[in-house]
Amino acid sequence: MRLNKFLSACGVASRRKCDEIIASGRVCVGGRVRSELGVEINEKKDVVAVDGVRVKLPEEFVYLKLNKPKGYVCSAKDEKGRKTIFDLIDCEARLVNVGRLDYNTEGLIFLTNDGNFANLVTHPRFHFEKEYHVTVEGEMKESELAVLRNGVVENGVRMPKAKVKFLSFDGKNTKLSVIIDEGQNHQVRRMFDCIGRTIVLLKRVRIGNVLLGGLSRGKTKPMSAEEIAFFMGEK
Ligand code: URA
Repeated sequence: MRLNKFLSACGVASRRKCDEIIASGRVCVGGRVRSELGVEINEKKDVVAVDGVRVKLPEEFVYLKLNKPKGYVCSAKDEKGRKTIFDLIDCEARLVNVGRLDYNTEGLIFLTNDGNFANLVTHPRFHFEKEYHVTVEGEMKESELAVLRNGVVENGVRMPKAKVKFLSFDGKNTKLSVIIDEGQNHQVRRMFDCIGRTIVLLKRVRIGNVLLGGLSRGKTKPMSAEEIAFFMGEK
């Protein structure tokens, strides 16, 4: 689609006025200023911004938060016939999960039909924090927390550092807050494997500034405009 047509379809201004806006260098496509006329864009893929603010076609994007329970896989189908998170969702739009949680992990995961949003949230370049509550068998020592903070060494390779905070010990299990800003496969479980500790429960409670809060297990809730904007870089 022509850039000027796209902008006017987004409600920016008339097509002629949009040509002026483009020519004055106020429009970026994929982060690059495009001030020449006659630019073609892919309206499904390209991120277009006017004066630094993203503009979109008024089609309805859906952004949901889900509290994933244990015992569900994060994919549309499972070759082992296990339940998937899509069994929990009643939505006409074709949604994808934004990143993954393991079968036995519970907590916050996003679902959307906005591919740009999904790429942005999961892109390693942006380092959005993910916070987990980790319940571990036994009483953990401060020295073990220090090892996790420094980045454990797995097969000779140091894993990323983590922010680790003691939350509680109930005489049986220790509960910690663990914050990472990378999304390696099974990262948290691997960190605890490396120090020989068994995770009893792994729960994601935050992504970026979005909290799981009081959302019940298995339930979804639309993300607020503010929560979406946090990732879009508009706030
Ligand atoms: N780290 C893990 O090990 N598992 C998850 O599900 C998420 C983070």
